[in-house]
Amino acid sequence: MILRDMQANPLQWTASPGLGVGLETTSSSPLPSFSQLSLGNLSGGTSVNSLKTRGLFLVKAMEGSRTASLNGHAGNADKNASLLSSVGNSTNILWHECSLNKNDRQKLLKQKGCVIWITGLSGSGKSTVACALGGGLYRRGKLSYILDGDNVRHGLNRDLSFKAEDRAENIRRIGEVAKLFADAGVICIASLISPYRRDRDACRAMLPAGDFIEVFMDVPLQVCEARDSKGLYKLARAGKIKGFTGIDDPYEPPLNCEIVLTHEGGVCASPCEMAEEVISYLEDKGFLEA
Ligand code: ADX
Repeated sequence: MILRDMQANPLQWTASPGLGVGLETTSSSPLPSFSQLSLGNLSGGTSVNSLKTRGLFLVKAMEGSRTASLNGHAGNADKNASLLSSVGNSTNILWHECSLNKNDRQKLLKQKGCVIWITGLSGSGKSTVACALGGGLYRRGKLSYILDGDNVRHGLNRDLSFKAEDRAENIRRIGEVAKLFADAGVICIASLISPYRRDRDACRAMLPAGDFIEVFMDVPLQVCEARDSKGLYKLARAGKIKGFTGIDDPYEPPLNCEIVLTHEGGVCASPCEMAEEVISYLEDKGFLEA
């Protein structure tokens, strides 16, 4: 039996001796590749590729018959029990595959689900651009949803502080929620400082290649601080807020992001112009059609 847990670790496979599966199979008596496996009971629109991109992918490969069955199709308790898995602290769980899939939802919405991840300092204009982007997409008949760091901290993430480990958890949770929105076919706009590269990269790794679009609000600290729309920089400089990003907590700019929204010669483009830049990217990459 082969267990592939892409959600827990997309790069790790576990396999019992003597069995292999998928594209990695290289033994002298190889098992069938993904494309050769018999994937019984899949819905019409379910491709092997789409299955490979989903969270938990469990394949039982039997050398004799060279057949495979997906979890969720087991006919009895014994069989289901053999498919149970553990992810993190969740034990004895079973991925349930639904016949209606992401492709179906994308066709309904006439767009492709993805995550636009806007990162930058406090005061760099992330939320403003996120709203302008949501508006621009709405006017084109495209469905988006904004996950704003400040807003999510009012509910789901209200238990988290600004310590490094809590910021990491904030980003992880927002990444997971964004992934669900993308799977729903929605263009999800995540707008949060997300100061550490490693945390952002972990969110990127949750999604299929190309579906995570990192947008860097490249606005210098002096400009953000001069704006100080919430008065927080002033408090941070006065030592009344500890660990404030850009002041006494680091911000790591992206090294290889998809889009940089820059501040040229002391002048920023308008939020609408910045939003249009992102929309052009989405158009070019085919996200605005199913
Ligand atoms: S993140 O670092 O965890 O990604 P997030 O985007 O959710 O941050 O929240 C940032 C918002 O929290 C800022 O816009 C600001 O209003 C507020 N805030 C409060 N304390 C801090 C702090 N120490 N550093 C940065 N922002 C802070």
